[in-house]
Amino acid sequence: MDKLLIEGGIPLKGHVPISGAKNAALPLIAATLLAPGKHSFSNVPRLRDIRTMQRLLSYMGAESEHGEHFHIDTSRVHTTEAPYELVKTMRASVLVLGPLVARHRQAKVSLPGGCTIGARPINLHLKGLEQMGVEVQLEHGYVIANAERLRGATVSFDQVTVTGTENLMMAACLADGVTVLENAAREPEVVNLAEYLVKMGALIHGAGTPKITIEGVSELTPGIHTVIPDRIETGTYLVAAGITGGHLTLSPCRPDHVEAIIRKLEMAGLTIEVKDNTLDVQRTSSIHSVDMKTWPFPGFPTDMQAQFMSLMTVGDGVSLITEQIFENRFMHVLELKRLGASINLDGRSAVVRGVQSLSGAPVMATDLRASACLVLAGLAAEGVTEISRIYHLDRGYEAIERKLEAVGARIWRKQ
Ligand code: EPZ
Repeated sequence: MDKLLIEGGIPLKGHVPISGAKNAALPLIAATLLAPGKHSFSNVPRLRDIRTMQRLLSYMGAESEHGEHFHIDTSRVHTTEAPYELVKTMRASVLVLGPLVARHRQAKVSLPGGCTIGARPINLHLKGLEQMGVEVQLEHGYVIANAERLRGATVSFDQVTVTGTENLMMAACLADGVTVLENAAREPEVVNLAEYLVKMGALIHGAGTPKITIEGVSELTPGIHTVIPDRIETGTYLVAAGITGGHLTLSPCRPDHVEAIIRKLEMAGLTIEVKDNTLDVQRTSSIHSVDMKTWPFPGFPTDMQAQFMSLMTVGDGVSLITEQIFENRFMHVLELKRLGASINLDGRSAVVRGVQSLSGAPVMATDLRASACLVLAGLAAEGVTEISRIYHLDRGYEAIERKLEAVGARIWRKQ
């Protein structure tokens, strides 16, 4: 299994190209099931999760290729089943449920199963579909969904859910009547998806606000769309500049998608200039320890919590980090402590006391963002850090070691 080795202590300097967003590309690819035919996306990142989604849709009969652009033809989809073997490797596979039941009036989708960061049930997805007239049964680890016809409904989410909002928004596009999603997720990835659905002929209002209204239509037509830049990758490289005391420019970015991240990092002592779609970041003072709570968008994203914690491990005081979205998203804490960090956990909060410096050691990645956090800590640590189980990293970061090497990092992959 691949490992990453990082010799830390080098201030990173130069330009980092930002890739398309994994969490925008995945629902877009699932949405192609709503309209049989040829779809084309640009700026789709080359990631393990994208290949998993490709495999899932080709299992259903779709044909896709990922050259300069991502092309997919769904005109020969012949099954509405998403098997456990594929779903178990990527929870986001559940995003095919809404489009399949809307387009084919039936779906058999494996339940995603457990996840290291939390229980992550899909009860809100299923409850919403039931309100739209879908009969839902759970059998042998599968969701069996059937509907004579989908009808519009008012769905009020008990809790903000990103893929729940995306699944029901897609299903509602082909339902009879009007669907209103209340307490909906406002993430930029939801908006990127809604923009494509509208391009295909859907009638959607309010994407990006807590209330989304969808008026069903009889059919949608394939089209062309662009994936937004990855705001979490952007945030990760902002921290890379801060934790190494370097100076980076990042582009193409959407500054409006990373405002909460920028604000928090500026409080921590980073200087971040916004120039059109480019961010210019450097650290001109010591790292200030600041508190942080994760929130749904436009709050500070949970997918940046671990990376932010790595920065706070070398802060000039004490930082209280509270994880409000997932109940078990502190797996990286023990690994950071192996690098010499001082962190105490108390339920959903972590008290991080800044130390003078970290020292390199062998550590283990436990999930996607935890692995990014360990890469950042390794870039700052004295000596060599060896990160194992980096298959987690490859799920969501395109060519991370090539991008880091290009700005001066001493990083290499070992089998
Ligand atoms: C999306 O996951 C992202 N994944 C996650 O990114 C991200 O962490 C998360 O949103 C929150 O921002 C994709 O977009 C593919 P949720 P999702 O439903 O949609 C609870 C990464 O690192 N909940 O918004 O699965 C749930 O348990 C990944 O790229 C229910 O209880 O997250 C959690 O506590 C990790 N019942 C909270 O809501 C439901 O039916 C938010 O989860 C649905 C969710």
